[in-house]
Amino acid sequence: VPVATESIAEPMPKYECQRITRLKHHNHRFTTALALLEEHAGYLQSGKQDSRALAFRKAACSLKALHHPLTNIEEARKLPHIGRHSLEVIQDILEDGFSREVQDICDGDFYETMQLFTGIFGVGATTARKWYETGFRTLDDIRNDSTLSLKRDQKIGLDLYQDLNTPVSLAEADIIQDLVNSEVQKLQPGATVVLTGGFRRGKTEGHDVDLLISHPTEGKETGLLSAVLARLRGKDLLAYETMSANTYDPSSVSKKEYTLDHFERCFSIFKLDKSLISSTQNAKPTSESPAGVVQQGTSNPDRPHQGEEVSLERAGGTASFSEGDKTAEKTWVGRRVDLIIAPASQYAYALVGWTGSKHFNRSLRLYADHERNMKLTSHVLYDTVKHQYLPASSEEDVFHHLQLPYREPAERNC
Ligand code: CTP
Ligand code: MN
Ligand code: MN
Ligand code: MN
Repeated sequence: VPVATESIAEPMPKYECQRITRLKHHNHRFTTALALLEEHAGYLQSGKQDSRALAFRKAACSLKALHHPLTNIEEARKLPHIGRHSLEVIQDILEDGFSREVQDICDGDFYETMQLFTGIFGVGATTARKWYETGFRTLDDIRNDSTLSLKRDQKIGLDLYQDLNTPVSLAEADIIQDLVNSEVQKLQPGATVVLTGGFRRGKTEGHDVDLLISHPTEGKETGLLSAVLARLRGKDLLAYETMSANTYDPSSVSKKEYTLDHFERCFSIFKLDKSLISSTQNAKPTSESPAGVVQQGTSNPDRPHQGEEVSLERAGGTASFSEGDKTAEKTWVGRRVDLIIAPASQYAYALVGWTGSKHFNRSLRLYADHERNMKLTSHVLYDTVKHQYLPASSEEDVFHHLQLPYREPAERNC
């Protein structure tokens, strides 16, 4: 009797959270092209409620969950959420080995410039597009225009452009976690500092470090974030920080908005001392050559980086910092760090929410809502039929309440 493996004939489940989606799969030649089209669609629209970008993401997710390389278009037609446009792209890659549409996007200066500008911390697609339409093409065009009133985060984003556009390695993330944890333990022994986000899903590089802080005793996390930040500031480890208070309102769960969470948090930029980073850093990109894509920039298969080499060159090369002595090499590297505080009773939900992927969470929440009449957030799960909250002390509990098979973080890479 064969062991219970998923049969090829079995149709793929509709919700991404019902599937296993790993970082490495069999269809990168298609998903890299679709990821680029998703990103490009996001540049054209304003990011939120972007149905075109979402359609590309969903098509790519179905291909990522496939157990073998796709070899014919008929098979793609049978997969869930593969729209007409995505089918055409897949067909082009099957027939020609690349997508003309993707190639054209890469060849034009819109995509490249948008990548450059949205790479500035504090700059989203709307601002980047406005600058593109004004005629700006380089970071110096932005820096040298005195009529622009840049926000504080955008200014530091320009100053630290190169640092913040160099992927954070897992080793660096571990160093930052240790730095934060040692301060946290001094303030509140027994508190937990967990590396979440992409690194928890098994990525070896990321755009930032996501640290979820909690304490097994409810209430002991109160006040911890500002105290930790004060200590880090005292050690001159922060280049930027912006803190938001906890705005969690238990009565809001029954309302429609449940995508954003309300934890106390800090979006920051750490100064990571270069002497702490070992020489084994900045591993070379994995040598995959995705179809329809020229000169892949990084090993992150989720996010295409076509213009990267040009962008960094345009960014103006050397890593000097414009504070004080302008020619002095700085001794640290800027790294984006998100610190989130969750009380014990919400910890399991916070862990699921901050582990991601963003798209996995989206599917979990839709599944909870449409298939189980439950509202899932990063704080709670609420049964809208029984009118009760469902407490969870682990991620397994969360999946169990939703009557879904448990997925390891590494299986949530959709
Ligand atoms: N997240 C969230 N609320 C926010 C920002 C992020 O719930 N305001 C969640 C995202 O849904 C994601 C996780 O936190 O699941 C990490 O987000 P992010 O750092 O943006 O993405 P990663 O998956 O970590 O990818 P990367 O490596 O690029 O950082
Ligand atoms: Mn497989
Ligand atoms: Mn992250
Ligand atoms: Mn983050």
